Amino acid sequence: MNIVMVASECAPFFKTGGLADVVASLPKALTKKDHHLKVFIPKHRCLPSEIASKLEFITSFTVHVKWREQYCGLFKYEAEGVTYYFIDNQYYFDRLQMYGEMDDAERYTYFTHAFFKALDVLEVDPDFIHCHDWPTALIPLYTKAGVVNTKAKTVFTIHNLKYQGIFPLSVFDELLHLDRIHLGGLEYEGAINFMKAALIHADWVTTVSPSYAQEIMDPYFGEGLEAFLHARNTSLTGIVNGIDEDVYNPATDLYVSVPYKKHFARKKENKRIMQQEFDLTVSKEIPMFVLISRLVEEKGLPLLVHILDELLTTESVQVVIMGTGETRFEEHFQEIANRYPNSCRFMNVFQEGLARRLYASSDFFLMPSRFEPCGLSQLIALRYESVPIVRETGGLKDTIVPYNEYTGEGNGFSFTNYNADDFLNTIRYAIHLYHQPRHWNQILKNVYKSKLNWEHSAAQYENIYMKLLNPTNKEDP
Ligand code: GLC
Repeated sequence: MNIVMVASECAPFFKTGGLADVVASLPKALTKKDHHLKVFIPKHRCLPSEIASKLEFITSFTVHVKWREQYCGLFKYEAEGVTYYFIDNQYYFDRLQMYGEMDDAERYTYFTHAFFKALDVLEVDPDFIHCHDWPTALIPLYTKAGVVNTKAKTVFTIHNLKYQGIFPLSVFDELLHLDRIHLGGLEYEGAINFMKAALIHADWVTTVSPSYAQEIMDPYFGEGLEAFLHARNTSLTGIVNGIDEDVYNPATDLYVSVPYKKHFARKKENKRIMQQEFDLTVSKEIPMFVLISRLVEEKGLPLLVHILDELLTTESVQVVIMGTGETRFEEHFQEIANRYPNSCRFMNVFQEGLARRLYASSDFFLMPSRFEPCGLSQLIALRYESVPIVRETGGLKDTIVPYNEYTGEGNGFSFTNYNADDFLNTIRYAIHLYHQPRHWNQILKNVYKSKLNWEHSAAQYENIYMKLLNPTNKEDP
C-alpha cells in the first residue's frame, strides 16, 4: 500500500514529545511489512546540522493562503526505506517554537495547503493519508470537501486530545479555502477547532491506546469533544504505541556506561556510577527511583510533590528527577533536592544522553499521570529494565500489569485513584518486594518478556487500512 504520513514533528529531526517518536518509528515498522511510506513534515529551525547538510532540494513552488502567495521549498531525505519530505518556508517555520506562536492557525493552514500542492507536484496519490494531531487535522476535511485532488482515504491519530488547535472564527474567512457550508464541521463553541474537523471527517480515527479510546468518550477525559468521539465509536480504535528497539537498546546504547541485557548485576554497575557522579550514597541495596517528564500537571506531578518529603524521610531510597516545565514544580523539586543531598537530585534540563543513563541506572520508573494517551517512557523504562510504577490510566493501564505476588504475573506496579496516599503506598509495596529476591527476580523476568516493539501494533494499523480499502471486510481491526 502507498501510505503518506503527515505530522508536525518527527525524530530525529524535530521533537517536543512522544509524537515525534511515533512518527519516526511507525513508518519504519510499516515499511518492514512491504508498504511504501512517505512522511511530510515542516522544516523547522532546530534540524540537526548533520542531517540538514544531507537534505536534497527537490523543487519549489508557491502556495496560496487566501490572498497571500507564499514560497514553498521541498526537500527530501531517505532513511531505512522511508522517504521524508520537508516543507520549507522560513517565515513560518524558522522559529524558536514549533507551537504556541500567535499565528499557529496560519502556519499550519499553510502547511496543509503546501502538503496538498506537494502531492500534486510530486504526482503522488497515495491510498492513505495518515495524519497526526491537530496541526494536520484540516487534511481530512479538505479531502472530504473535495477541494483537493486525491482519492486517498484519511486516518487521523489523536496523540493528545488536550491540544486541539482552537482559533478565532475569523480564521475561516481569512485563511481557509473552503466553502461556507463546511464551517459547521469546524466550528465548536464559537471558535474554529481543527481537531473537531478531523474527528468528523477522517475515514478512521485512532488513538494511542485502547483504554484512552474508551476514556475520551467520557466527559472527564473528552476535553469537550466526547460527543463527537462517541458518535464515531465504530470507527475509533485504540492502538498502543511501540518503541524502536534498535534505538532504545541498553546492550548497544552508546550513552550507557556499562552495556547490559537481562543482567541485573551489570545494570547495577550503572547505578553505582550514577550514584558517584551525583554524590548520592553509593549502595547497591538502596532502590533508585527516577522520574523523567515534562514538568506539567497532567503528568501527575502534584502527587509527587505531595509525597516526596515523606518518602525521603521514611524510606531508604534515592530519587532522581529530570525535566523542565512549570516553575512551581521546578522550584519545589530543587528545594527538596537541596534538603536531601544524599538521596535526591533534580536535573532541571532535558538531555537525551542523561535520560538514557537514568533509565539504565534506576530500579524504578515513576509515572503517576493524571491521564496518559499512551506514554512511551514506561516502555523505554521496561526496555532498560527499570520497573514502572504508574497510575492506571490510558496507555499506562494497557502496558503495565501490576505485579501479583500470588500468581507471579506483572511487569510493574500501579494504583487506580489519582491520590497521593495510594501512590506512596504503591511505592512502599514496591520497595518491600525489591528486598525479596524471589519476587524481585520474578518481576525482572516479567519485565524482560514485555512486548515493546511495533510488530503487533503495526499489524493493527494495517488492518484498518485494509478495512478502508475493502469496507465489506468485517474483521475488527
Ligand atoms: C502524546 C501523549 C503520550 C503519547 C505520545 C505518542 O505525547 O501525551 O501519551 O505516548 O503522544 O503517541
